[in-house]
Amino acid sequence: MKRILIAFLLALTMMSVPPAASAEAASRITYDKYSLTVDGRRVLLWSGELHYFRLPSPELWRDVLEKIKAAGFNGVSLYFSWGYHSPRPGVYDFKGVRDVDRLLRLTEELGLYVVARPGPYINAETTGGGFPAWLKNVPGRARSSDPGYTKAYREWLGHINPIIARHQLTRGGSVIAYNAENEYAANTDAAYMEDIQRQARNAGINVPITHNQCCDASWTPTWATGQGAVQIPGVDDYPQSFECREPDTWGTWGEGVTERLSQTAPAYGAEYQAGAIDLNNAGYEKCRELTGPAFMKVYYKSNLIASGATMFGYYMAFGGTNWGRLAQPNDVYTSYDYGAPITENRQLTTKYDEFKRQGLFVTTVTPLTKTDTATAPVSSSAAVHTEARANPDTGTQFVLVRHPDRKTNADETSTLTWNTPDGTHSVPVRLKGRDAKILVAGYDMGGQRLALSTSEILTHTTSGGRDVAVLYGTDGIPGKTVLRYSSRPKVRVLEGDVRASYRNGDLNLDYTHSGLVRVLITDGGRRPLLLLLGTDAEAAKFWRSGDVLLRGTDLVRSARLNASTLAIRADTSKPADIEAFTTAKRITLNHQHVHTRTTPSGSLLGKAPGPRPVHVPLLNGWRTRTEAPEADPAYDDSRWTVADKTATISPIKPKTLPVLYADDYGYHHGHVWYRGRFRATGSETSVDLNAITGKGGVYQVWLNGRYLGSAAGGEQKDSDAPVNPDPGPGKFSVPSGLLTKGEPAVLSVLVENMGHNDDWTADDLRHKQPRGLVGASVTTSPITWRIQGGTADSVRGPLNTGGLHGEREGWHLRMPSGRPGLPPIGPGVSWSSTDFRLGLPSDQDVPLTLRFGGGTGRHRALIYLNGWNVGEYVSGGVQRDFTLPSGILRTRGPNTLTLAVIAEEKSTLGEPSLRPVANHRTSR
Ligand code: GAL
Repeated sequence: MKRILIAFLLALTMMSVPPAASAEAASRITYDKYSLTVDGRRVLLWSGELHYFRLPSPELWRDVLEKIKAAGFNGVSLYFSWGYHSPRPGVYDFKGVRDVDRLLRLTEELGLYVVARPGPYINAETTGGGFPAWLKNVPGRARSSDPGYTKAYREWLGHINPIIARHQLTRGGSVIAYNAENEYAANTDAAYMEDIQRQARNAGINVPITHNQCCDASWTPTWATGQGAVQIPGVDDYPQSFECREPDTWGTWGEGVTERLSQTAPAYGAEYQAGAIDLNNAGYEKCRELTGPAFMKVYYKSNLIASGATMFGYYMAFGGTNWGRLAQPNDVYTSYDYGAPITENRQLTTKYDEFKRQGLFVTTVTPLTKTDTATAPVSSSAAVHTEARANPDTGTQFVLVRHPDRKTNADETSTLTWNTPDGTHSVPVRLKGRDAKILVAGYDMGGQRLALSTSEILTHTTSGGRDVAVLYGTDGIPGKTVLRYSSRPKVRVLEGDVRASYRNGDLNLDYTHSGLVRVLITDGGRRPLLLLLGTDAEAAKFWRSGDVLLRGTDLVRSARLNASTLAIRADTSKPADIEAFTTAKRITLNHQHVHTRTTPSGSLLGKAPGPRPVHVPLLNGWRTRTEAPEADPAYDDSRWTVADKTATISPIKPKTLPVLYADDYGYHHGHVWYRGRFRATGSETSVDLNAITGKGGVYQVWLNGRYLGSAAGGEQKDSDAPVNPDPGPGKFSVPSGLLTKGEPAVLSVLVENMGHNDDWTADDLRHKQPRGLVGASVTTSPITWRIQGGTADSVRGPLNTGGLHGEREGWHLRMPSGRPGLPPIGPGVSWSSTDFRLGLPSDQDVPLTLRFGGGTGRHRALIYLNGWNVGEYVSGGVQRDFTLPSGILRTRGPNTLTLAVIAEEKSTLGEPSLRPVANHRTSR
């Protein structure tokens, strides 16, 4: 009977994918080749990627999500990382920093759509590409329908899918789409791809299922048709590559035009480059430059018009931190700032401004949700290229104006002969340097009719029976806006310089973009219009919260009209104007009343106070303590795990037996200690080792308590395919007299694990490559081994600590007493700790970093803040500043900072100091 039941259940799960969407879902979310439609309204999905697992402070999730929303994004794209939640098979943790239910509730509250991306494989430069490290011990190729892997990933989906399901838009939540797998293009298995979707549907996921195809459609399969096909196949585009050392070199990886993979679904730029990994240690500011505002203008706007895509995921909106052992070591270090529009320290950049200019435009001007290619205005100059799309229902035109060669810095002008739905016009345009514009014609802008403009639209809104529109253009270049009226309107120029003329129903406004020009237009058969014409910089000062338009401060998080009071939540780094285009009579700012006056524009203008200066303490009172008792031959390791396996499922086989791979003994993260015993012959000359640490790792060796030295840990590179025969070799001379014939000897080896490789190629060769010792020989006599790694921290998770003595003893939580100061250390392991107290004002946001001074000698330090491993400093490495996220950092109270310093030679630690990155008065 039981057997029959199992067979029946199995048959149930193997049934083909249930119909794409239930009736309930179908009524809320539909799509066609143009766009998604939610409750009958077309939506242009403009989402930014965020990795909650890289921000281990749930109270900062709101901060970052509010910043994303204020940038004009209407969605977020969220990977869910399997490995982050699962320390062991069958064990899943969704509490505290892993509380994704809380994250999804926040997106709901803020009104952000979510593209949920639970993998099972996610890549994302995170350890194992999101796979839990225990998967290394599961037989069967990952990302295939092998039974071993199938059981494992179904376990994950069984936990994450119900959470995602209850937050779907179709159930009143925020999830608008579900992404299956990730850039699944190599070694594909359609049955697996199909099963992921089957699991989702069975869990009640009824939103459209998407996929992000790597790179372009030349990668097959695209999952657009056939077994395993998804409903909305998308494409990832990284046109700038990841070479941040050359921020001026554009388009290394192509034109960045999102390919349409399906004729029945919208074109979807699932991941579009919004930053870069710092592959060659240029520093993230260079990555921000490589993917800066000029690139964004040229590539994002070109793509919008060339592709007609209406779904986007910009990777990343906020990158965050590879805290603990989250990094996949080949590509990233602790910081995952990514050169994103919002920095790792949650600061807004010029890229943020450009996202806001584009985001407000694409989410305001709804005819963009349905466009076909259209005839572009004829350009009088070959040096100015035009390309157009138009909405077939409204006739609204979107005209891209750019240099034919997108990389040129030339300053070009041209006259466009433009057949708009409201008549033919001849208008001058100018491109000053690397730039692109999307000009709009034939648009019902609130209660107005915009015939055309050579300024770009930022946004527009209606308040108190009047339209307010913000248009903008490059500082110093001319602009022309034509509006239609049934009779001559009244034009009052409130600020700036504008020439107005009226002829045959056209109100022509001519001006030069400079500062903020204000024009009030009344009568003419339409409701009043306040037209604000600014430069790029002026446009970036505007914020939009719902229908409320505001100007000024560093960030408007929200503005809500309550009777006649507008309650604004905003951030300021200095006293600033705050202007609200509103019917409200009063303003409160962060719950405080603000004195305002009514301006000639009919807006309310007030002053927002800045923050008070803050004091950050000097770090002194350090205490230092050395450890590494494991190096002492007399150390008692009897409780350590015996390492005596003779076989491994890793595709990389050991050079010597027994198998010494840390993962095979259940030690998956951070450092592991080995102690090997052998009987000496007295004629040993060297200890020969091989270790795989992942890129950037080191290992250190002691023999009978004597330090023999360190070596760089090896890695398994693609170019080593299929395997590197000699990874991380180390030959350590045995000092004469150290070993005595016939006497027992003890070899102690400390190996760092820098994180696990990804599985981009779906072949197990990368993510299942071992960590730890791969080979060891001293004499011909056998060595017996014991191994000790870390045990998972049940609060902070398995990635927080490894197997250093201090970590095993909980020194990261509280280090026992030590010598005062930061004395010279090493070689070996020592810990330094200090306490400091912060008293930052509770209404101010002061992100702090820890900066390491110079220092000498080769060393590295794991940084523990109140017990949390917030990163690894490596002497001589590119990263010297480490984010201390508030939440983990007590901004009003005592803190303990503890460093586990692993020195390869005698070293001094460059004195670390606290640095405020910014100081904002805020409302959280
Ligand atoms: C994509 C991948 C992402 C991330 C990105 C580079 O190919 O889907 O997960 O790895 O590249 O940052």
